[in-house]
Amino acid sequence: MNATATLYGVGVGPGDPELLTLKAVRILQRVPVVAYPATPQGSAQARDIAAEWLAGKREIPITMPCMLDRGPVNQGYDEAAIAIAAELAAGHDVAILCEGDPLFYGSFSYLLQRLGERFPCVVIPGVNSVSAAAAAAATPLITGEQRLTVIPATVGDEALRQTLLNNDSVAILKPGRHRPRLLELLRETGRTADTLYIEQASRPGQRIIQRFEDIPATPGPYFALFLIVRPENR
Ligand SMILES: C[S@@+](CC[C@H](N)C(=O)[O-])C[C@H]1O[C@@H](n2cnc3c(N)ncnc32)[C@H](O)[C@@H]1O
Repeated sequence: MNATATLYGVGVGPGDPELLTLKAVRILQRVPVVAYPATPQGSAQARDIAAEWLAGKREIPITMPCMLDRGPVNQGYDEAAIAIAAELAAGHDVAILCEGDPLFYGSFSYLLQRLGERFPCVVIPGVNSVSAAAAAAATPLITGEQRLTVIPATVGDEALRQTLLNNDSVAILKPGRHRPRLLELLRETGRTADTLYIEQASRPGQRIIQRFEDIPATPGPYFALFLIVRPENR
């Protein structure tokens, strides 16, 4: 038994299992326990991506009851932290799987806050969704002295407006139900010709919309993002 078990935050990349790093695979082959975010219905993106490497492991699903309400979400993290801490205290290494990169809007950050001071912790970076989307569209994200801002669609209109007006490149994550409002803001700030929209980057359902007029003005899926780049990058 290992008296100083390690907590690993493992980025599993944006969806294509071939985008796991060699280091992520090596850690997954070694640890006896994995944890991962899951919906109450049991779907778990990070688990699906890493499935090939999980046979025979003990699994701790981190159930997220409702992503819009912090109360139940915090309760999900608290409960998972207790189960993970029990494994670590018993000397078992635990890998928390995280879609994309663990520290890039990753749920792993919330578990790190709860467990990072009590146990040794190692983070394995993953390919994030912004890089995966730019790669899918074969579009340079930033070059030379250009600036990039990453922003979630959940912030207010004014923050989005200023970001669109004051940056060369902008990645807008979590568009989901905000998609119609984002299209309005892109029109208002004169960035329609600069806009790409990518769903499910690197996954079988990958969809890239290059023309602004083709982006539906209706709520869209969760695994999607907008990339706004200067005309010279397109
Ligand atoms: C909670 S954030 C997680 C980000 C993730 N940790 C990363 O490194 O990219 C979830 C958001 O990331 C974006 N996202 C994640 N994977 C994606 C993919 N394969 N294609 C497009 N967008 C993706 C979407 O905007 C989604 O709403």
